[in-house]
Amino acid sequence: MTNPVIRPRRLRTSGALRRLASEIRVHPAELVLPIFVREGDEQRPISSMPGVVQHSIDSARRAVVQAAEAGIGGIMLFGVPSRRDATGTGATDPNGILNLATRALASEIGDALVVQTDLCLDEFTDHGHCGVLATDGHVDNDATLERYRDMALAQASAGSALLGLSGMMDGQVAAVRETLDANGFEDTAVLAYSAKYASAFYGPFREAVASTLVGDRRTYQLDPANRREGVREAQLDIDEGADIVMVKPAGSYLDVLAEVAAMSNIPVWAYQVSGEYAMIEAAAAQGWIDRRRAVEESVLSIRRAGADAVLTYWAVELATWLKEEQA
Ligand code: PBG
Repeated sequence: MTNPVIRPRRLRTSGALRRLASEIRVHPAELVLPIFVREGDEQRPISSMPGVVQHSIDSARRAVVQAAEAGIGGIMLFGVPSRRDATGTGATDPNGILNLATRALASEIGDALVVQTDLCLDEFTDHGHCGVLATDGHVDNDATLERYRDMALAQASAGSALLGLSGMMDGQVAAVRETLDANGFEDTAVLAYSAKYASAFYGPFREAVASTLVGDRRTYQLDPANRREGVREAQLDIDEGADIVMVKPAGSYLDVLAEVAAMSNIPVWAYQVSGEYAMIEAAAAQGWIDRRRAVEESVLSIRRAGADAVLTYWAVELATWLKEEQA
């Protein structure tokens, strides 16, 4: 028995060597912070997402300035309306909370970061689905596309630079792209939530947007069993004119992310969702894991799997740590 000739441990012997041999790193500019904005003057905590709040427009303004100072790349806005109806009229009302917040924050922040909006009806419908319902109760794909077209115009007019299409309706990218182009918004970009799975990890998000969904989204979001189908959805969105494709959730779908990243010729992003956040926060609060290391490792893993940028509720805190480590 001879001693090993090949010793991979050599490059792990010092911090300086490990840093130099590191294959990838996370940079603040590739982090996006999701932000919830509610109607009313006061911000409210979200109990299942400790540290995350439903902002008022005023407190969101402060959060966005802080995010820009931390050097992150963008924010993704979600509206929490006080009234909802069957077709989600609040989503297309120029004075609906999401459009109001977009206008306020986009003018506040200028070019310091990218203001993006969630384009989906579930926050605005009283049944909580991502689309409008046909008389038999199923989510009507093509009628929903008409609502998404109007929503796209409302958001682009309000100053959103990047529309996050998260509804998982067939043909949504093509429909929104066509409407934007026909109305002078050729430069408004589309982020397609292409491989969005019907996931239990969106649980805390329901509380975050006070959604009233009864039932589930399995007739439009992907079956967690399907990898090939996720890749196909991303390809379809690229063909329909998406500027960026996304995989969501991130942590449990790193295989899908890696495969989409391997085939895509446009940027690929991933969304570390509310349940992924809640799990680490809950375990850390119990003292069962090292919070900072778990957060850093989870986001690093998403980057390693192939994401060019990551939506994460830790974006600002993580950016602050990264700066600290650099200094
Ligand atoms: C749809 C949307 C959802 C999330 C982002 N956009 C909810 C859903 O599809 O059920 C979930 C994000 C998260 O859980 O952090 N508007």
